[in-house]
Amino acid sequence: MCGIVGYLGSGVAQEPLIDGLRRLEYRGYDSAGVAFHDGDVFTLARETGRVENLANVLQGKGSQSSLGIAHTRWATHGAVTVSNTHPHLSYDKKFALVHNGVIENFSSLKKSLLHKGIEFSSETDSEVLCNLIAYHYSTLSPNSDSFIQAVSTALSESRGAYGIAVLCLDNPEMMIGARRGSPLVVGIGEDANFIASDASAFVGRAKEAVFLKDGELAILQGSEFRITNQQGHVSEAVAQPLDQTLEEVELGDFSSYMEKEIFEQPHALQNTLRGRFGDDGTTAKLGGLEGHEDELRNVDRIVFVACGTARHACMVAEYLIEKLARVPVEVEHASEFRYRNSPKSGRSLVIAVSQSGETLDTLEAVREAKTKGLLTLGITNVVGSSLARETDGGVYQRVGPEIGVASTKAFSSQVCLCAMLGLALGRMRDLSPTDGSNLVEALLGMPDLIAEVLQKGEEIRELAVKYSKAEHLLFLGRQSLYPVALEGALKLKEISYAHAEGYPAAELKHGPIALINPECPSIFLVEGTKLSAKTIANMQEVKARKGPVIAFVPEDIEIPEGAADDIFRLPVAHEVIRPILANIPLQLFAYHFARLRGLDVDKPRNLAKSVTVE
Ligand code: M6R
Repeated sequence: MCGIVGYLGSGVAQEPLIDGLRRLEYRGYDSAGVAFHDGDVFTLARETGRVENLANVLQGKGSQSSLGIAHTRWATHGAVTVSNTHPHLSYDKKFALVHNGVIENFSSLKKSLLHKGIEFSSETDSEVLCNLIAYHYSTLSPNSDSFIQAVSTALSESRGAYGIAVLCLDNPEMMIGARRGSPLVVGIGEDANFIASDASAFVGRAKEAVFLKDGELAILQGSEFRITNQQGHVSEAVAQPLDQTLEEVELGDFSSYMEKEIFEQPHALQNTLRGRFGDDGTTAKLGGLEGHEDELRNVDRIVFVACGTARHACMVAEYLIEKLARVPVEVEHASEFRYRNSPKSGRSLVIAVSQSGETLDTLEAVREAKTKGLLTLGITNVVGSSLARETDGGVYQRVGPEIGVASTKAFSSQVCLCAMLGLALGRMRDLSPTDGSNLVEALLGMPDLIAEVLQKGEEIRELAVKYSKAEHLLFLGRQSLYPVALEGALKLKEISYAHAEGYPAAELKHGPIALINPECPSIFLVEGTKLSAKTIANMQEVKARKGPVIAFVPEDIEIPEGAADDIFRLPVAHEVIRPILANIPLQLFAYHFARLRGLDVDKPRNLAKSVTVE
């Protein structure tokens, strides 16, 4: 959602700030702004629309300051206007603030500030926080301690979620960051330190990062920094090396991050798999689960919690883990789980899956599970994310930053890790060494099979050209391909805005068949199992009603003449690998379909990469 970047160093802040905002564009936003500490005043530039608009305004002018904060806003309180765009200046023009999150009690705080005669120039909750800080500061003597105290007091009066960066005119060498529920990270560079909502904002400029915990403040002063709690007690600043590379966060030869991330999958999945199998080659060894072996052996139910694409990965996991480990699995929308009081035994394991590790509903579901005393594990791509920190154990996806709003490589690696977890749990129970080693072999061979599918990308582009006028599409599959159908439909609708729905193929006759007509293509995912014949029968029912059929089918399954208009052949693979393989052409189909409509696949309307509010 919104993005924050702040710079305090010996150079000019403008370029790293604008560059940082460009790197945060993927999070989704509708306006952007920057404030520079320019001695007696803050120089403010704010624009609706793209970061590029802001960069153009600043070109040739701007500021030579070496202290500044910048923001991309995704509107929550108030329309997309310049006055609602961050940074906000306080009523006395002494403070500049950028904020991610939502201040839930902003209207009562605003009322009390209005009573004190303080005026507002935006509709945002963030300006309320800025004015509250300024008000508290006005009651103290003007110095750096008062700056810290004013921020702490204002935060202690605020309810809700925030990640903030604040500047004070009286303190030209100081920037304060704070977080509760919204990620914030300090970047440590040679000539500058940074505060950002996401480390990608300063990759290439900082060598190490310190991820703030909820309730912590980062106080950057000159070339030093310290981390404290709101009471001012200094906490240990654990600096982690920044292992992201510029190549990972830049587009290179690709025209979009989505395309780059789809084509990165063979390599990305190799990273997910690397070094994670036991020496005897029959099981998976996931370091983040060490120390929990006894609990895992005794688990009698697994509950997955996640949102969006990550939830679809969990739905695939339900089929895989139940088959491999014979443990009952449930998948819940994190947003439902957190408010539902379903009975869970002490032997239930809750697994939260989130690419960003910052999705608020998923984090709240974990917190609810912990309140109930349940063991929690996390599967996430982002090192140091809230999910990684708050769960009892977990596994990193290791696929490199996913920048395209539409999740692609993250889905594949999440399913892959769930299969590995199923393998590990299965081997602790009754999965045979032979079945274990067959699966290990299949998993290790998967990156090559993904590459094989990607090589046929042109065939998918042609399919997208043929069907690009369709406004309604159905995606159908059975068993572990049913969640893949859901994911294919989600991918298409989120980036092309066509209406698409996923169903279990057998559900067709229970309603969706009413939609079938020559303008509504049905995309069938055919398993390589005994059930294939049933799915093919469903395809024929659609053809009988003049509905176009596109079939994605393993090479060894025969499709009767006339049962499909178009057939895309998938490599023959172990059944655990099939859902990952079947999803790859659907990612490409959505990608081409949206591009043919002239849409920006990386910045779909209304969507944010990481949903850190409820
Ligand atoms: O970061 P997370 O995996 O927790 O994100 C969950 C969803 O918001 C995300 O998968 C969303 O559905 C994507 N736009 C899907 O492409």
